[in-house]
Amino acid sequence: MSLTNKMWILKTRPKGLVEASNFELIEEAMPELNEGDILIQTEYLSVDPTQRMWLTDVPGYLPPIQIDEVIRSGGMGRVIQSKNPNFKEGDLVSGFVGWQTHLISDGKGFRVIPELLPIPTMLNVLGLTGVTAYFGLLDIGEPKEGETVVVSGASGATGSVVAQIAKIKGCNVIGIAGGEEKCGWLEDCGLDHVIDYKNTEATKELRKIASAGIDIYFDNVGGPLLEAVLYQINQKARIVICGSISNYASEDLPVGPRNLSSLIINRAKMEGFLVLDYFDRIDEAIQELSKWLMEGKIKHREDIQEGIENCPKTLNRLFTGENKGKQILKI
Ligand SMILES: NC(=O)c1ccc[n+]([C@@H]2O[C@H](COP(=O)([O-])OP(=O)(O)OC[C@H]3O[C@@H](n4cnc5c(N)ncnc54)[C@H](OP(=O)(O)O)[C@@H]3O)[C@@H](O)[C@H]2O)c1
Repeated sequence: MSLTNKMWILKTRPKGLVEASNFELIEEAMPELNEGDILIQTEYLSVDPTQRMWLTDVPGYLPPIQIDEVIRSGGMGRVIQSKNPNFKEGDLVSGFVGWQTHLISDGKGFRVIPELLPIPTMLNVLGLTGVTAYFGLLDIGEPKEGETVVVSGASGATGSVVAQIAKIKGCNVIGIAGGEEKCGWLEDCGLDHVIDYKNTEATKELRKIASAGIDIYFDNVGGPLLEAVLYQINQKARIVICGSISNYASEDLPVGPRNLSSLIINRAKMEGFLVLDYFDRIDEAIQELSKWLMEGKIKHREDIQEGIENCPKTLNRLFTGENKGKQILKI
């Protein structure tokens, strides 16, 4: 079979939002498969804030993407040819497919996914962002009934699932998001309070709404909102550091929260985590999340852009806040 792969490779490291000129979309003929290989046709890309960090030359939890390398990206694809006994033609697989239309893999790092729900839903609530929400809130945050939980990036893929699990666990939930539309959607999801941080002053709003204090803060964004929450935490509060999207695209490291002493005064803890460390327990999360989905306890929405040529533009949507729900790109 003679096939051409279209792929985005890195040409220069971006400053701020990415630009098309940081990348090149090239075409290459696909080689023949070796014994043990599978040929995957990419169907959907999961567009994730962490990809912006991989474009910088700073070592992280995964190595930076190198110049002339294909852009690393999670997603789902279809096995269209297999010389590997663990995969058959037609299997839907999930893993690092990359910003490309096709790839050859020995199958390591790819899982066959049963097609029980639409693919975008599986990439969202049952994908890595849903699993992140599950373990971050339940394992690190340890919510108890009646506690007050604040979630930033609350209308996004991770935040919206966190907020709704916290409601399932009987907590008083305050979501922080940018703009009227996103805040309105969060009210429909059943949150107790919503703060529009783009049109109000979060510190003041938290003082009013969380007057009895905050027990858990699930932080997706870092920056000034982290500082605003720290002013209002209760004794023994847990600050779950999931992400810091407000810093991923900036040139200089920001000055951290000025009020870290609030952790001392309140005997509180702040803990970061990575979903990668929970892979051996992923089935537990997927089982619980599926149950809540089927029971209608978790609302979700996906923002689906289309076309391999739109990869760079789609990544930027996460940083401008244009994405309404889990950002996905259909290839
Ligand atoms: N630790 C882990 O293992 C792990 C795994 C997955 C994701 N994460 C992290 O979780 C966070 C959310 O990721 P996601 O994939 O679910 O994305 P998302 O929340 O669906 O989309 C990103 C959202 O971030 C908000 N945002 C962008 N710039 C901001 C700023 N300067 N200040 C405040 N909010 C800003 C925007 O919402 P508004 O319009 O409301 O501003 C945007 O819609 C990210 O920080 C990501 O790195 C961590």
